[in-house]
Amino acid sequence: MTDQTATPRSFSASVPLKGGIAIPGDKSISHRSLMLSALAVGESRVTGLLEGHDVLATAAAMRAMGATIERRDDGEWRIHGVGVGGLLQPREALDMGNSGTSTRLLMGLVASHPITTTFVGDASLSGRPMGRVIDPLSQMGADISASPGGRLPLMVRGLTPAIPLSYRLPMASAQVKSAILLAGLNTPGITEVIEPVPTRDHSERMLKGFGADLAVELGSDGTRHIRIRGEAELKPQTIVVPGDPSSAAFFIVAALIVPGSDITIANVGLNPTRAGLVEVLQQMGGDISLVNARTVGGEPVADLRVRHSALKGIAVDPAVVPSMVDEFPILFVAAALAEGRTVTTGLDELRVKESDRIAVMAAGLKAIGARVEESDDGLIIDGTGGDPLPGGATIAGHLDHRICMSFAIAGLVSKAPVTIDDIAPVATSFPNFEALLAGLQQ
Ligand code: S3P
Repeated sequence: MTDQTATPRSFSASVPLKGGIAIPGDKSISHRSLMLSALAVGESRVTGLLEGHDVLATAAAMRAMGATIERRDDGEWRIHGVGVGGLLQPREALDMGNSGTSTRLLMGLVASHPITTTFVGDASLSGRPMGRVIDPLSQMGADISASPGGRLPLMVRGLTPAIPLSYRLPMASAQVKSAILLAGLNTPGITEVIEPVPTRDHSERMLKGFGADLAVELGSDGTRHIRIRGEAELKPQTIVVPGDPSSAAFFIVAALIVPGSDITIANVGLNPTRAGLVEVLQQMGGDISLVNARTVGGEPVADLRVRHSALKGIAVDPAVVPSMVDEFPILFVAAALAEGRTVTTGLDELRVKESDRIAVMAAGLKAIGARVEESDDGLIIDGTGGDPLPGGATIAGHLDHRICMSFAIAGLVSKAPVTIDDIAPVATSFPNFEALLAGLQQ
């Protein structure tokens, strides 16, 4: 059945991209800014908040549970928190839209509060596995009833006091880690997460910044032990959200593959747990230089100057996967334009993102004439060596913002236009994506 409300959009061979842009705030940090501010006692102020649908879903949920959250005309957000333990029972189901981060982190938050909360979401989110958070949160005492397969809609009946837990993550997931730490905030004693493979550490940095008693210790086997002491009191903060490297990624790759391009992307967050793509593209021969490296809101940030480059295929080290887990769709587009073969492995987690990003990227890239082979846990791509792709296909975006944006960029280096069946999902993480692209094409 065709979706009558879908908004198709075509992207065609581009003039060189020139000029400068600033990309919107980091999605992960924006979610956490709202959640932690809503649990602090007093008023927090946040600038640079990403105003995409996913983050707005978190804002609406925190409001529904008692926080006062306002956006001022100058773009600053002011949040009055309810205090740890003070979340109120929402009157209606929390609508998480497309946002896995909102869902999993909030499930953690409510698991140790004496409230019952129902979570619902769109078709993409309702297909995603929640068992990974249901298991540890149930061990902490929450009573969770989910739809078949551990999916949404689901209901969490929180337990206070919850039972502290020491939990070894069975998969590399910052969302699961964060859900447990957030549940630990209102749990007596020490809650511990053991992380065999490091994932984005925004929760650890921000919880400490808000005054929680949190410590990270490295085990002799390289595992990270993250311990939080519960029944914490969080102090309100003033937060400046750095630009999202996962959004910058689309323009980094666009400038590398569109001949003649030379752009500067301001204020890009380069936390080492997020910056894998820049490293990999540099290994492929990408001309990316870091300018004006500095610290913003406790996070490393720089401006990136990116120039068109002749990329070469490489075997991507699976150890970098967690530091660029959201960037593989756009890396695949870069690989499709590189000279030679790019091999990616260890990408099992991509199959449970907003879509199965291995299968969906393989199908879409083949449809526009790229040479791609799918394996269990990655793609093998033989690039064009810089020649344009044939293009001329309509791509199913599967309600996945990063799929839509990746094929939009692929359209810029295709002979015939690439059409995305529905561009709307882009607004979940990057509402001004098309406007920024148009600005660089002037
Ligand atoms: C996120 C963690 C990652 C990432 C998502 C945001 C976060 O998910 O894909 O976009 O903010 O913690 P996983 O934890 O499932 O890898």
